Amino acid sequence: MTQPFHATGVSIDTRTLQPGDLFVALSTDSGDGHAHVAAAMAKGAAGALVHRQHDMPEEAPLIVVGDTLVGLTALGAAARERFSGSVIAVTGSVGKTTTKEMLRTVLSATGPTTAAVASYNNHWGVPLTLARTPPDADFCVVEIGMNHAGEIAPLSRLAGPDVAVITAVEPAHIGHLGSLEAIADEKASIAQGILKGGTLVIPSDGPMAPRLRAAAGDLRLHTFGVANLLQIHEDPQGSDVVAEIAGVQRRFRIGAPGRHMAMNALAALTAAAAIGADLEAGAQALAGFAPLGGRGTRRAILGGAATLLDESYNASTASVRAALAVLKLTPARRRIAVLGDMLELGDHSRAEHERLAEALRGSADLLYCCGPWMKFLYDAVAADQRGAHAPDSLALGPLVERDLRPGDAILVKGSLGSRMRVIVDRLCAAGSGAG
Ligand SMILES: Nc1ncnc2c1ncn2[C@@H]1O[C@H](COP(=O)(O)OP(=O)(O)OP(=O)(O)O)[C@@H](O)[C@H]1O
Ligand SMILES: [Mg+2]
Repeated sequence: MTQPFHATGVSIDTRTLQPGDLFVALSTDSGDGHAHVAAAMAKGAAGALVHRQHDMPEEAPLIVVGDTLVGLTALGAAARERFSGSVIAVTGSVGKTTTKEMLRTVLSATGPTTAAVASYNNHWGVPLTLARTPPDADFCVVEIGMNHAGEIAPLSRLAGPDVAVITAVEPAHIGHLGSLEAIADEKASIAQGILKGGTLVIPSDGPMAPRLRAAAGDLRLHTFGVANLLQIHEDPQGSDVVAEIAGVQRRFRIGAPGRHMAMNALAALTAAAAIGADLEAGAQALAGFAPLGGRGTRRAILGGAATLLDESYNASTASVRAALAVLKLTPARRRIAVLGDMLELGDHSRAEHERLAEALRGSADLLYCCGPWMKFLYDAVAADQRGAHAPDSLALGPLVERDLRPGDAILVKGSLGSRMRVIVDRLCAAGSGAG
């Protein structure tokens, strides 16, 4: 017979499990958690949620349920129910995790804030974030993502946000949804979970704005966009901004470069305003906000003689454009874009890759790229911009390294599946060798 036990946290991964956590044995693409229950107990788990006894002893502190994902979802729902603070949900085609982390920064200036780990934004990530929410926090920030239509609304209903933010509607994952309209509708379905009297925050720019606006129904609606960005002075490390948030002009600095980061900051502050957070303190805190790993991290290479912008986390047309704009801001003798395929664009793949030629013209002297889709971009740029094209990142790395010179600024970006991290690691190692 299992004895009652008390857990102080929730974990799905023994590598990050803390003593006292409840270990939830999920079966995901990356494996079956049931194989790690014994390891979790050895690391100090208080107990485990399982749907098979596996080879654990009778008296082990196990909660046996029909399906651990359903169990975790119920745990998330219960945690949401007991939580009396405000829940803020973030979705969008790009900028979800960045905006979620900016909200963490902004709201922490008002009170205790908890937020999703990394990009935990799917059918297990959202309930996990909720289940982990300490009842005495003031704010909980959840990220809600999607690959296919119909995924956002149920996760939003589970989270029951007081405020939901749509960061942007762009052709990312368009291969699964087919059109920008379908993407907008899917993002807008986050409104279905917002609590009565709650607020939807949407971008006011772009062709999909009216569609998003229509989704608000009886909810309160707040917008952010170019019209709110009264002044921006960009430098390679960040931007000084004057913006109008909830009718008040504020002057602040964002410690991450690029207009896209300023837009994310506006989204975060607009959401924070809707729940009565201290906006002045929150805005000032953004000076300490640095780009997240692989989303513009700046690294000195070649012993400090060259600069690398690590954008290897992911890529879509919007985020490549944003990264190229930051490359343009970076002081350098030569600017080099090293790009891998943008994936999941379906029938739009060729056109979305070719479309980048124009942005490249003004921001990079040379293009090195890899993958079958990037070949279309390579062929679309001017002959004197062509550095090299290779089948994949493993083959491209040595070609970039060979041509690297002091004074270069190098942007490395691609979808996660294009594995551009290989090139980042290689160039960073080359730097340490050159001393
Ligand atoms: N508002 C924006 N417009 C364009 N690009 C952006 C914007 N915000 C962030 N990016 C860039 O998009 C990429 C992904 O950023 P981020 O992780 O914040 O987005 P996400 O929506 O959480 O992505 P994912 O769906 O992969 O979790 C990074 O390269 C980042 O610099
Ligand atoms: Mg994310």
